[in-house]
Amino acid sequence: MSSTLRGNWNYPTTIWAGPGRIAELAKACASVGMARPLLITDEGLIGAPMIKNALAALKGAALFGAVRGNPALSHVEAGLGAYRAGGHDGVVAFGGGSALDAGKVVAFMSGQTRPLWDFEDIGDWWTRADPAGIAPVVAVPTTAGTGSEVGRAGVILNEETHQKKIIFHPQMMPRIVISDPELTVGLPRAVTAATGIDAFVHCFEAFCAPGFHPLADGVALEGMRLIHRYLPRACADGADIEARAHMLAAASMGATAFQKGLGGVHAIAHPVGSWFNTHHGLTNAVILPYVMTFNRGAIADKSAVIARVLDLPAHSYEGFFDWVLEMRRHLDIPHSLAGIGVSADQAAIIGREAAIDPSVGGNPIPVDAAQLERIFRAAVAGDLAAVDGGR
Ligand SMILES: [Fe+2]
Repeated sequence: MSSTLRGNWNYPTTIWAGPGRIAELAKACASVGMARPLLITDEGLIGAPMIKNALAALKGAALFGAVRGNPALSHVEAGLGAYRAGGHDGVVAFGGGSALDAGKVVAFMSGQTRPLWDFEDIGDWWTRADPAGIAPVVAVPTTAGTGSEVGRAGVILNEETHQKKIIFHPQMMPRIVISDPELTVGLPRAVTAATGIDAFVHCFEAFCAPGFHPLADGVALEGMRLIHRYLPRACADGADIEARAHMLAAASMGATAFQKGLGGVHAIAHPVGSWFNTHHGLTNAVILPYVMTFNRGAIADKSAVIARVLDLPAHSYEGFFDWVLEMRRHLDIPHSLAGIGVSADQAAIIGREAAIDPSVGGNPIPVDAAQLERIFRAAVAGDLAAVDGGR
């Protein structure tokens, strides 16, 4: 079976996919010119056998494992300190979305002289960077969700303002991705579900974002088809390698597609994550149907296309929406943000910040701060009927 799950892909970057491919980590580092990589991982993975094995395989490598969920400037600075002190020449970013983002940003910042926030994804700020000062990255995802392994940006929390900032540079794209489904086998069911729905929302919001981008649309549709088929299997049996392999591919597809744009789900989820430190994928999973309801009038045709591709019983918005609710229930996703510890106390701030989030421009219809606040309040209360249907 495993030979059919193996492949070398060259877009959007070089991807070595297949069970057991982690054995080629040292070869990957050598092929991008790394002799002394810094392995950056999540706090929770330090001591895991897969990290110990990777360090044993990489001569001259050191470990930096102080990355937490929703990584902040302080994590990046600590990682940069370790990178420079160790005289490293590249980064192996190994873990979930937080470790991948932090690792990519450390590699990006390793040869820059300006402060991090100068490289926020605004206009052409990325041109301020010295491309010669960007170290290479080999990315090894251990969750199937963010797709950060094929992204050109990292999301870093500004702890002073409670805002998540996107740090962008085209050269932040990892040189090689090792996409090994065996590394995701130990993921608990709840994390598998939350990260998998994040990948689904990437595909869905990208497909519904306005603009002419048939390449992204095609990738997004196939990504949704794979998640519809394989996420329940990966949740039912974490050792289902075929399901895990397809979920890893779908996660990379989501991030490939969302170069087209995201939308209201992510626009609201970002400030919620910043203020309440909630899990990003879980936050999206809860918010999705509320934003769908708001956008309903603008996404009917596209929802029917998705329903057809997913081979749902009804090829309509309603058929698709019912499946989304059913999938959330099946995967034990709470129906309200209150169910994951979010209150409406900061509703006005969440609405304002969502309205200026970079994702909001991809929403299928324009949405302002007051409308975003109402959607957020409805999601906190678990009251779909309180969403005003886009009018
Ligand atoms: Fe996301």
